[in-house]
Amino acid sequence: MAWVYLNGRILPLEEACVPVTDRGFLFGDGVYEVIPAYGGRLFRWPHHLQRLQNSLDGIRLANPLSDAQWRDVLEELLVRNREEAGADNDQAIYLQVTRGSAPKRDHCFPREIRATVYALSQPIPPPDPAIARDGVAAVTLADNRWSRCDIKAVTLLPNVLLRQQAVDAGAAEAILIRDGNAIEGTSSNLFVVRDNRLCTPPKSDYMLPGITRDLVLELAADNGMACDETEIRAASLPQAEEIWITSSTREIVPVTRLDGRTIGTGEPGPWWRKMSELYRDYKTEVRAGRAH
Ligand SMILES: Cc1ncc(COP(=O)(O)O)c(C=O)c1O
Repeated sequence: MAWVYLNGRILPLEEACVPVTDRGFLFGDGVYEVIPAYGGRLFRWPHHLQRLQNSLDGIRLANPLSDAQWRDVLEELLVRNREEAGADNDQAIYLQVTRGSAPKRDHCFPREIRATVYALSQPIPPPDPAIARDGVAAVTLADNRWSRCDIKAVTLLPNVLLRQQAVDAGAAEAILIRDGNAIEGTSSNLFVVRDNRLCTPPKSDYMLPGITRDLVLELAADNGMACDETEIRAASLPQAEEIWITSSTREIVPVTRLDGRTIGTGEPGPWWRKMSELYRDYKTEVRAGRAH
């Protein structure tokens, strides 16, 4: 049975309900985080907490819990859902904060309502071996999202439609193009290897600052892999030696086909293999409590 946290209580998933007047339901007026936990230990917790705070600030909503309260809630969930998680005890937490429920549907912020706070943890499924063997296909699509993509808002309709367009085209992800630049995927950040350097677009209001992205940059810098935060022209993507997408749930995924064309050799490349090993080793350190 899966346990969830809702507004101060831990309860079975089936019993967790929010009113239909919740502004998350009516307006998508809320933010969320996705946080992996390896061996029951929160991964990059300070980074996720800071991004949650930035998202809450971005929608002008006070953080309903203190740092310590967040940690207590999430660690309690990890313990409650431990049994389902298998030997490694790897789980992914989803947490969401909405502006809460008000009797009258009105765009402007209601006064004196309590935020709705929801969290659940679920086992992380084992990686699909086909991804390491073959990589995945991606397509490029015009980025038609808003201009505050740095906020991790629950309002994800453009991302949903763009991802479905990619899936309908037989691809795993859409790489989004704005003003001729590749920005990120619908739920992932973007890396490109070219001229013996690892490149990723710089942070901006048009991109979610991925926690995985930052870790990949850190690991690259610590291990002598030359890397740049620089604009990536969409027109240059077909000539990339390697393309990767990164996210907390998918980790680092090699893109070997883009818009029906082969990227590099058509197989996951040496830079990806090296970074996957570094990332795997980092997770081992987290499980052992030597890194976070
Ligand atoms: C739009 C978008 N970009 C990037 C990411 C990757 O972020 P993270 O590495 O923190 O999971 C996500 C994650 O869901 C996302 O939704």
